[in-house]
Amino acid sequence: MKKIVVLASGSGSNFEAIVKKLHGDSCEVALLVCDQPGAYCLKRAETLGIKTLQLTLKDFDSKVRYELEMIKHLKAVNPDLIVLAGYMKLIGETLLAEYEGKIINIHPALLPAFPGRNGVEDALTYGVKVMGVTVHYVDAGIDTGKIIDQESFKRAEDETASESKEKIHAIEHELYPRVIKHLLT
Ligand code: GAR
Repeated sequence: MKKIVVLASGSGSNFEAIVKKLHGDSCEVALLVCDQPGAYCLKRAETLGIKTLQLTLKDFDSKVRYELEMIKHLKAVNPDLIVLAGYMKLIGETLLAEYEGKIINIHPALLPAFPGRNGVEDALTYGVKVMGVTVHYVDAGIDTGKIIDQESFKRAEDETASESKEKIHAIEHELYPRVIKHLLT
């Protein structure tokens, strides 16, 4: 069975959706790597029975050493795909050199519009009428890699920011597992 590793920094709702839809069926979710101690995604992994690795950048002399440590663990798994799911660090040259073409990311906006860590807020502030989600390959830029798939929706006239955010999450939880499954087959 194909293996994936998920990288996350926060709540991990996408990680959970991926595990529930794919683990043990379309692929093995072999490891969750989290860069934030105490992040809720670690709790979810424990409940779901997925192995975790927690690495904190500031415990290392450099980002290169941080990523080399991660690579050591990734090599033990030998994943077919590395899935960023709310991983809020730029992938450095070390990790990219090892796995470019095998790392994908989900972004809560219709790229190339609104890249970066506040995609949803930036789109709402701009006043867009259509919002959406992008899944793309990771390259050295900020959300600049080749687009794999996108899904959009039109905001209702009276839609609140939190309703839009909920819709984005709901789309992500369907789109990301579907794309991962497709890439692995
Ligand atoms: C998701 O909405 C994802 O698109 C976004 O972080 C959220 C993580 O939610 N990622 C980015 O903004 C990357 N630039 P989750 O922890 O509940 O899966």
